[in-house]
Amino acid sequence: MPKHFLDLSDVPSAELRTIIEQAKTWKAGHDDLPLKGKALAMIFEKSSTRTRVSFERAIQQLGGEAIVLSSADMQMGRGESIHDTAKVLSRYCDAIMIRTFGHDILTELAAEATVPVINGLTDKSHPCQVMSDVMTFEEHRGPIQGQKLTYLGDGNNMVYSLIEAAERFDFELTVSSPEELAPAKEYLNANTILNPDPEAAVENARAVITDCWVSMGDQDAENRHNLLKPYQVTERLMQQAADDAIFMHCLPAHRGEEMTAEVIDGPQSVVFDEAENRLHAQKAILGWVLGIF
Ligand code: CP
Ligand code: NVA
Repeated sequence: MPKHFLDLSDVPSAELRTIIEQAKTWKAGHDDLPLKGKALAMIFEKSSTRTRVSFERAIQQLGGEAIVLSSADMQMGRGESIHDTAKVLSRYCDAIMIRTFGHDILTELAAEATVPVINGLTDKSHPCQVMSDVMTFEEHRGPIQGQKLTYLGDGNNMVYSLIEAAERFDFELTVSSPEELAPAKEYLNANTILNPDPEAAVENARAVITDCWVSMGDQDAENRHNLLKPYQVTERLMQQAADDAIFMHCLPAHRGEEMTAEVIDGPQSVVFDEAENRLHAQKAILGWVLGIF
């Protein structure tokens, strides 16, 4: 059975910690090429800037290569099955990353592939991003265990992976969303609290996190904007968090929507460190699935 990276809840906490520490080590510098000769196929059914470029650079810097595939240009886009696509790509490549809509497409690909499969975002989750977020928090504020982080906004794929990270890395996550867009109750765990009042939710938070109000594939933009307006991260809201709170966002961002420009472009923002750390975290995820540590 290949070692897939599909969701944080599938990977034991100790192994997730090893991945983060390896990412920090490689970020400090390395000359070795442990993935020399290895190839990563990347399937994109949705747009991407960071995931695409950071994975491609990650495998290049470790000595391997990436093959970027847009599903629209593949036979998959004309109805070839996931089953056959998985079997064929497994004969050419050493790992497959996919960004897609339904999570079932990811799990079916993983069930059929004979090489590791990595979740590059689905409608349900975005675990690679959250590994970078944990790394970034720790670079700025030290060990994440026991810390309070607050997410404001849409209960989307980012929140789902943050909820799993809270349990795996043992931090406290408060999620503040309107009831209509809150994460489903069955996803919650003992490390997660829902608080629909944004001012109360950010109290003592050492990181305030948000994401776009309209994710790729969402149709109801106007309704979402109306519901989410009270959850915009403003300077005033940042002042109600811990004195040294950082602001985090996976990007792409929409200034004037989920946060003001003053917040994302201000001194508490670490968003470009988060973006950079996608590269380092994914090097470690690639190394882990390919069994080099
Ligand atoms: N944060 C993130 O996954 O960005 P992209 O959509 O640009 O890959
Ligand atoms: N929630 C966003 C994340 C983008 C990286 C989306 O799915 O579009």
